[in-house]
Amino acid sequence: MLRGKSFVGSDINPLAILCCKAKIDFFEKRLVDNAILRVAGRLSDPRYDYKLVDFPGDTKWFSQTALKSLSKISTAIRAESESWIRRFLWVSLSDLVRLASNTRRSTYKLHVKADRQEIGEVGITNLFLSKCKTNADRKEVLWRQLSDDGLVSQGALNQRYQLSLQDSRALEVDEKADLVVTSPPYGDNKTTVTYGQYSFLPLQFIDLDDIEANFDRSLASRQSSIDTASLGGSLSDMFEKRDFIASKSWAFRKSLSQVSAQSSSGEKRLVSFFYDLYQSAQQVLTAVSLDGFLMLTLGNRKIAGIRVPLDRIVCDFLTLNGATEIVTLPRSIPNKRMPGSMSEETVLVMRKHQSD
Ligand SMILES: C[S@@+](CC[C@H](N)C(=O)[O-])C[C@H]1O[C@@H](n2cnc3c(N)ncnc32)[C@H](O)[C@@H]1O
Repeated sequence: MLRGKSFVGSDINPLAILCCKAKIDFFEKRLVDNAILRVAGRLSDPRYDYKLVDFPGDTKWFSQTALKSLSKISTAIRAESESWIRRFLWVSLSDLVRLASNTRRSTYKLHVKADRQEIGEVGITNLFLSKCKTNADRKEVLWRQLSDDGLVSQGALNQRYQLSLQDSRALEVDEKADLVVTSPPYGDNKTTVTYGQYSFLPLQFIDLDDIEANFDRSLASRQSSIDTASLGGSLSDMFEKRDFIASKSWAFRKSLSQVSAQSSSGEKRLVSFFYDLYQSAQQVLTAVSLDGFLMLTLGNRKIAGIRVPLDRIVCDFLTLNGATEIVTLPRSIPNKRMPGSMSEETVLVMRKHQSD
């Protein structure tokens, strides 16, 4: 966006798509400020008629006060008529949902806190409004930079873009890309980063139609749905998958023999994840134009105590499908978000040399 290039973006997690859409959406600070004032007015009305949000596990994850306050904010956002304004407000709400819930902050997983401190209705409302203001200021800074560079006219981005909720194993793009920049997960979500559990609570309060019209709504219906739908989420057909994927990479075969000697559940996770990643790598490569580049940020996690060289395995997968390695660069992660997460990654740069 900052370089003025046309782009396509996709992810399987609806919350990721919402955040990206809110970032690239039309923006006019005055209209956002007015919307925040209107929403604040609705929230300060003790007789405001709102719909109580309910979902499986609601009273486990929220106190009655939090559930009511977040539901009231949700109704007040739905009352806005412009979808870009609603998306902006949903992002501010989604940040707040986890803060107002009973889940621990120290992990991406949903895990009930030992000490349940209530923020209270006024606290939740104030936090929401202050998040809205901070986000409006941030987007204004970004929009000013883009408009100084001539990339925005009348509040909207000039370049062509398309953001969609898609499974990368079945990725479809209208036009081939000259460059792919991505970072696949480092393993199955369940034992690496549970993006799905992290997103489950916010998604209960958001109008999913504002994210995308036609995606499978069951993705948001259970706390494990997104993680199961993500790469490595299904452990079925293990033997067929193992034989198939073992023939695709020498580095994978080496990890397979090391991990299977230690743990059969580790072996299952390894096979399922890399089988899915292979489908994804193949599909993504078809979306790249001849001589186009791929830049992949990759982390080598451990399974059953054994370091799995994701960077080498992805390099094998892409080489087999018509790309050449240009360089592999180390990358240290300056601020780790959560304890136990990676502190070092690699960036693999490859180039497609073979037409489809
Ligand atoms: C390490 S994060 C990278 C986030 C961001 N796209 C980036 O490149 O910095 C991995 C992302 O892969 C997404 N993901 C997992 N399985 C997927 C699939 N089958 N199709 C599309 N995205 C998937 C996750 O939802 C998560 O957002």
